[in-house]
Amino acid sequence: MNTVRRILVTGGAGFIGSHYVRTLLGTPDGPGRVEVTVLDKLTYAGNPANLDPVRDDRRFAFVRGDVRDPELVGKLVSEHDEIMHFAAESHVDRSIAGAADFVLTNVVGTQTLLDAALRHGVRTFVQISTDEVYGSLDSGSWTEEEPVRPNSPYAATKASADLLALSYHRTHGLDVRVTRCSNNYGPYQFPEKVVPLFVTRLLDGGRVPLYGDGSHVRDWLHVDDHVAGVELVRTKGRPGAVYNIGGGTELSNRQLTDFLLAACGADWSRVDHVADRKGHDRRYSVDCGLIRDELGYRPAKDFATGLAETVAWYRENRAWWEPLLRRAER
Ligand SMILES: NC(=O)c1ccc[n+]([C@@H]2O[C@H](COP(=O)([O-])OP(=O)(O)OC[C@H]3O[C@@H](n4cnc5c(N)ncnc54)[C@H](O)[C@@H]3O)[C@@H](O)[C@H]2O)c1
Repeated sequence: MNTVRRILVTGGAGFIGSHYVRTLLGTPDGPGRVEVTVLDKLTYAGNPANLDPVRDDRRFAFVRGDVRDPELVGKLVSEHDEIMHFAAESHVDRSIAGAADFVLTNVVGTQTLLDAALRHGVRTFVQISTDEVYGSLDSGSWTEEEPVRPNSPYAATKASADLLALSYHRTHGLDVRVTRCSNNYGPYQFPEKVVPLFVTRLLDGGRVPLYGDGSHVRDWLHVDDHVAGVELVRTKGRPGAVYNIGGGTELSNRQLTDFLLAACGADWSRVDHVADRKGHDRRYSVDCGLIRDELGYRPAKDFATGLAETVAWYRENRAWWEPLLRRAER
């Protein structure tokens, strides 16, 4: 039977949520036909232009609104079968400057959605989270069994949301699945995160800031691979399970900077060494054995290729990012 799944995607105008929507609707109709509604508040990070490629698709609808609005959320959730919850305040530096919006959106917003999901008998709720909930580790990799030990206010709110989501599974039997991914990169990422920040500044002939000694290590995941993993979890994952999603490319920030400088035709004379971020986690590393063995996930994008494509996208799409920089300067 060719049933239609109605999917509510929160935060679908942001970097990863919009990539998920464009990918889902860009895949030809098959046994898993979908209709997608994006619910997004359009904060500074939400950009309607990210959804231009699907705007005229008859399977797509956009609603501007807040995940903390119980009335709106209740109405939308009652009209959908599944929830993909991407909406969040997502930038660590902003959470250090002020954590209130992070608690409101990431924690209260998630609880508002979970309550509505329970009330209206949603089939599946996928909570999109981050490896930052685990804290920081010097060696080895975290499995999903690792307890959460978040350090930044951002990570603390994401860990809280994960625990709430899992509690709705354990307490109420709601089909909740949690994904915890590493650092994403790719097109359409707001130019405050390190990859697009460095690329846009370098393409403009400017300088880039490197935190501390640059030895902090992150695993880099192309957004294509992330949304492929998230889709496996939506369609084949287990209720109540947590799945790590990684890219398999661990780099120190110095190594990442080397890649970015080379890709933009610049050298180290363009790098400013700046004071370290407060409480900066040294290293993140996720073990992706569970999603690989259970759901067949494997990151497909080789980092050098993915980064070259990403830099090319920013080079060719100044009309997308220049207005964002001008807006950020005001
Ligand atoms: N970017 C990464 O590298 C990364 C890594 C791990 C996990 N994540 C997680 O993935 C998800 C998506 O991240 P992203 O990088 O696309 O973030 P983003 O900041 O680019 O987008 C977030 C989106 O959520 C929307 N939003 C914010 N508050 C809202 C509210 N109260 N109501 C409705 N919409 C609201 C924004 O307008 C924006 O469109 C987040 O949950 C984030 O924690 C991201």
